[in-house]
Amino acid sequence: MENRDNFRSRIGVLLALAGSAIGLGNLWRFPYLLGTNGGAAFIIIYLFFVFIICLPIMFSEFTIGRRSGANAFGAYKILAPKSKWGIVGILAVLTPTLVVSFYSVVGGWTIDYMVKAAMSRFSMGSEGLGTLFSDTISSPVEPIIYMLVFLALSCLVVAAGVEKGIEKYTKIMMPALFIMIIVIAVRSVTLKGAGAGLSFLFNPDFSKVTGQTFLDALGQAFFSLSLGCGTIITYASYVAKKESIVGLSSQTAIADTTFALLAGVAIMPAVFAFGISPSQGPGLVFVTLPYIFSQIPFGNVLGVIFFFVLFIAAITSAISLIEVLVAYLKEEFGFSRLAAVAVSFFGVGTVAVLCSLSQGDMVRIELFGKNLFDLLDYTSSNILMPVGGLCAVIFAGWVLKKPEISDELTSGGTVKLKKTAIEVIFFLIRYVSPIAVIAIMLGAWL
Ligand code: PFF
Repeated sequence: MENRDNFRSRIGVLLALAGSAIGLGNLWRFPYLLGTNGGAAFIIIYLFFVFIICLPIMFSEFTIGRRSGANAFGAYKILAPKSKWGIVGILAVLTPTLVVSFYSVVGGWTIDYMVKAAMSRFSMGSEGLGTLFSDTISSPVEPIIYMLVFLALSCLVVAAGVEKGIEKYTKIMMPALFIMIIVIAVRSVTLKGAGAGLSFLFNPDFSKVTGQTFLDALGQAFFSLSLGCGTIITYASYVAKKESIVGLSSQTAIADTTFALLAGVAIMPAVFAFGISPSQGPGLVFVTLPYIFSQIPFGNVLGVIFFFVLFIAAITSAISLIEVLVAYLKEEFGFSRLAAVAVSFFGVGTVAVLCSLSQGDMVRIELFGKNLFDLLDYTSSNILMPVGGLCAVIFAGWVLKKPEISDELTSGGTVKLKKTAIEVIFFLIRYVSPIAVIAIMLGAWL
């Protein structure tokens, strides 16, 4: 077998993981879920889910990936040969394929809106911008072209390899991303009337909380941390044994959460300052923000920067999703990296084209009142990813042996971890995370 790729530096790994986690989930999904679920109340539930339920799942996926040193499908086969766990491996490859298909469509919108901002196309009032958004996404040609550009760029980085592509480019893109979002957040909180947005973000209103809020928060935590998708397993398989799983995972979760909160601070104060409804759903950043950009001095420049931020955040995540497929094709079918990338491009591209067309009248695939795009968005984050994560945490807690987990968590004894810390993590992995995920999913559905 050809030598496996590896990350070279610790900071490279961390930025690649953060690059995967920080994405459209933080800037596009988190704000609109916040808006529809009562602001601060949603944040509190979300934070709890990230650190108590999801972090142990990240430890589990990390352990599975690094211990096996294989792609997401192969990992389960290697660690539990001759068992039925291979089925979970299939899910770990199928889910990212579906996610990256609708993700690339939104990635395409970010490029489209960057171009629109540069051409000063936003001065038409908020109603006009609503129409502009629905016309843009339902058009049969334009969004497909932008989606293909987005997907092709992501594939080019993946084709360059783990160290020379993924690590190299995310190392440049991630710091730039943080700087840009801080600039936008500062501009937003200094707008007149921004206070109402800040209070929406930080004063909880629990009256809007329902069973669905819990499922939304859980789905968002999975989506945002890139869990249940084979991504962490795949990236972890390229990480050196000496690196700390607890350290890298916690830092990734902290970076991702900080970025989500920064995105909230960048968006909500501006939404309130201009008297726009925060609960309008997926169009929030594509309708509201352009309106705001059209109202403030140098708004166009800020608009280009914002959609560029969105684009960078999206591409580093798409890269991580595509790498899951590429690693799978390479290792299970002996494809070269280039061939694996090409197959992924055509496979994902095809589903993504259907997804984009389902926003207009061209492709009418509807189930439960949702078109293909909404269906993939909803089912992947609220069903497939939690189920994938649940399987990973059950696998780590009940199939792997305790000494194996502890060996990975301490990197073979080189990373110092208190005995009680290991006990607590093991308890969270074995009982707390799986029971909580099952309870929340059943609670929302029954
Ligand atoms: N975490 C990414 C985001 O928040 O946009 C999306 C994502 C990337 C989900 C990779 C799943 C994944 F495996």
